Amino acid sequence: MRCIFALFFAALLMVAVAHAELSTVQSSRLNPILPQSYQSSETCSNCHTRLYEQFEHSMHAKAFENPVFQYQFYDVLLPQMVNDNDSVFAAAACLKCHSPTTFLSQDLRLPARDADKSLPGVTCDFCHTLTGYTGLSPGNANYRNSPGPIKYGPLQFSTDWHRAYSQFQRQSEICAVCHEATNRFGVPVHTTYSEWRASAWPNRGIVCQDCHMSASGRLVAGKPVFDSGVLAVNTLITPKEREKIYSHRFPGARIDNQLYGAVKLQVHSFPERLRPGQTMFVGIELDNTEAGHSMPTGAIELRMAWLDVILRMQDKEWQLKAKPAAKMNWDVAGANPADKALIGTAISQGSRLYRAILVDREGQPTLNKWEAVDKVFDNRLQAGEERRELFSFPLPADASGSLEVDATLRYLRYPPGVAKHLGVDTVDSVLVAKANKIIQVSH
Ligand code: HEC
Ligand code: HEC
Ligand code: HEC
Ligand code: HEC
Ligand code: HEC
Repeated sequence: MRCIFALFFAALLMVAVAHAELSTVQSSRLNPILPQSYQSSETCSNCHTRLYEQFEHSMHAKAFENPVFQYQFYDVLLPQMVNDNDSVFAAAACLKCHSPTTFLSQDLRLPARDADKSLPGVTCDFCHTLTGYTGLSPGNANYRNSPGPIKYGPLQFSTDWHRAYSQFQRQSEICAVCHEATNRFGVPVHTTYSEWRASAWPNRGIVCQDCHMSASGRLVAGKPVFDSGVLAVNTLITPKEREKIYSHRFPGARIDNQLYGAVKLQVHSFPERLRPGQTMFVGIELDNTEAGHSMPTGAIELRMAWLDVILRMQDKEWQLKAKPAAKMNWDVAGANPADKALIGTAISQGSRLYRAILVDREGQPTLNKWEAVDKVFDNRLQAGEERRELFSFPLPADASGSLEVDATLRYLRYPPGVAKHLGVDTVDSVLVAKANKIIQVSH
């Protein structure tokens, strides 16, 4: 393992030099930023106590120490580097987003896995020294960062010894530098920003911050509602009481409340009058009204949502099976042989799945975003989209009484097969939406 680290450091340096020549990250690469250029988030906590308390539980703070990341980085990627020179570039690149201050300061002392001290994730100082991006559009960590005493923030007319205004801090593009990425094979692996761009949200003036940095992490009746209070404590000056403070919890797929209600479900059925022995049709409408992007989004190789439709009558129960809607059958749980290992029986076989499939050189589905050579499937629910699913069911000849149609949309950050593959704990699925309808069956 030791030699792997040594190799990694050497390689990381090479990568840094290569980048200096290509100047894909930023021109200051030629004059490496020293580690001490960045202050730790704990430094900020002395005064920005409340923001720090929110931030420390966020996935930004844990972007390196996250066990799922650690597994992929230490147990899958680093060992691969021994045989694959190219993956070295990918390994260095991981840090650009998962521990950017480490990458920029070229502080290459990579701690052993499970060491007491891990590398910092996306820190306060990193985000508040971001000033823009290089190139035509944001993504692939093409950020411009200028560390120093001045912290950039969203408040206009407040420039002083500590801070300066930056319009960039108020735009989705500050998130996009990391939440939009293609890998070295040109495969789009993170597309949250382009999904948002393609939606109606930008025209409505709603940016990432309005949802993910508002008080509830969601819009309330179509509008962001923010926290209020003071931004700093323990300072010589008495800080202003502010009506609007951006929360730093950054809720995402780990927060059940963030998921619940993100998509609305409605059940329709016809014909209006149902008779025993007749074929009934059940239509389910799914509206992705609350997410500012596709659902699921982010780590699309791991996340999935699925729709279960159950019919209940007296003591009988039937599951309505989905048919593959597309040429490839990845949208029906268990239909593709590869699903056996990926999802096992965690998701009821035959239910409609919403997900994306990345494949490796062998054409096999991969959970390693750096080795994906193609995205072969993607039926996720787009922002603002109304999706309709149609099922048919022949009612038994002896059916009578009330028939309940019960539809649920659930979400998994990663299914058990994936957890096993990743070497991390399994997670429970989270309810996103449910709806039901009761219909009378009579002669
Ligand atoms: C992932 C990037 C990111 C991280 C990490 C981050 N911030 Fe922020 N912060 C922002 C953005 C973006 C805004 C402005 C939001 C807007 O106005 O649209 C902001 C706003 C602020 C503000 C201005 C007042 C307000 O409305 O909240 C302060 C102060 C602040 N952050 C301090 C901190 C501190 C302290 C930390 C660490 C504990 C931190 N930030 C971590 C992105 C970040
Ligand atoms: C000694 C106390 C103190 C420390 C330590 C401190 N800040 Fe501040 N910061 C303040 C005060 C006071 C304000 C102004 C609050 C206001 O205007 O309501 C402020 C404002 C800000 C703002 C708002 C900028 C804007 O839009 O005007 C940002 C961003 C910020 N700090 C980031 C940081 C970061 C990042 C750190 C850690 C690297 C940090 N601060 C450490 C006291 C501090
Ligand atoms: C330096 C890169 C970087 C920037 C800038 C950044 N993020 Fe992130 N963000 C990450 C990484 C990396 C993760 C994933 C951490 C993990 O799961 O290991 C993440 C996670 C998140 C999550 C949590 C997802 C979950 O499943 O819990 C949300 C929400 C989020 N970011 C929103 C934002 C928003 C909004 C902005 C802009 C204000 C932003 N991010 C800016 C890198 C970044
Ligand atoms: C209209 C509100 C809204 C806007 C705007 C919005 N989001 Fe989200 N976001 C949500 C909701 C709700 C969820 C939970 C459902 C889901 O995963 O799609 C979420 C989930 C996420 C996740 C977690 C995904 C996962 O599965 O791990 C990330 C990361 C994220 N958003 C980043 C962003 C970024 C970056 C932007 C801006 C380009 C943005 N969001 C814009 C509401 C919003
Ligand atoms: C351009 C920025 C960027 C780069 C480069 C990057 N990531 Fe990420 N990564 C993200 C963001 C943003 C998320 C969060 C998406 C979400 O929450 O769904 C993420 C999420 C993840 C997750 C999922 C974490 C979880 O708990 O679900 C893993 C694992 C991961 N990244 C591994 C890596 C590895 C390994 C590399 C290097 C090969 C890498 N990443 C390179 C931005 C990046």
